Amino acid sequence: MAQEATLPQFQRWMILYAQRIIEHEDQLTELDAAIGDADHGANMRRGMEKVRERLDSPDNHCEDIRTLLRAVAMTLISAVGGAAGPLYGTFFLRAATAPNGGTSVDLAGLTRMFRFGLDGLQQRGKAHLHDKTMVDAIQPAVEAMEAARATNQSLAVALASARQAAREGMKYTIKIPANKGRASYLGPRSIGHQDPGATSAYYLFETAAEVLGVTNSREPETAQSVKSSSQS
Ligand SMILES: Nc1ncnc2c1ncn2[C@@H]1O[C@H](COP(=O)(O)OP(=O)(O)OP(=O)(O)O)[C@@H](O)[C@H]1O
Ligand SMILES: [Mg+2]
Repeated sequence: MAQEATLPQFQRWMILYAQRIIEHEDQLTELDAAIGDADHGANMRRGMEKVRERLDSPDNHCEDIRTLLRAVAMTLISAVGGAAGPLYGTFFLRAATAPNGGTSVDLAGLTRMFRFGLDGLQQRGKAHLHDKTMVDAIQPAVEAMEAARATNQSLAVALASARQAAREGMKYTIKIPANKGRASYLGPRSIGHQDPGATSAYYLFETAAEVLGVTNSREPETAQSVKSSSQS
């Protein structure tokens, strides 16, 4: 049977992503200070802390992946001010509308989720590739997954190539001027700086590769156990 990413893995992914964002809050703040208003680190930390609280709460049990993605989306939309919260929120909300949102997804299902999320994000934010936004990390990652699925790669290989593509996309934002958001007011002066949103989006795929691409023999795992194992 094809490898599948399970509901507990999705939960672990979101908790690890929250940790990664908290660890990199200062980096995200510094990147946004250079070409924006220095709030991306605080915005993302606030949102992902709330996501982690919600997933950790026994009152917030999610019975399937679709419900979990929707809970993440609604939390980000309500907790994060600025552009990034609603944009990430839309990504997760639209991902939740993809078919196969049960308790596990294979590569085809996961790829479709990410594609739905990206399309929703672009409909909302109207950013295209190379506008120097989070799309510059997410779109190459989704395309890498689609290419991996088309050549029957494993979930782990697909997610590893998505991570690599997101990283290259993030790095490429250094070379280009911004056409969207506050950074676009700088015009060519935004060249030479890495986009903060592309950076937080890279961490999303970095953590996906670390969690969703790994066969998990110790399920179900609670949010609390993920936190304590990573702190030890
Ligand atoms: N229209 C858009 N589509 C996709 N991503 C966008 C768009 N506008 C901004 N972004 C992303 O949001 C990031 C900034 O998020 P932040 O949390 O700092 O919100 P903000 O300060 O309100 O945004 P901005 O500075 O863009 O007005 C940018 O680095 C960029 O990646
Ligand atoms: Mg900002």
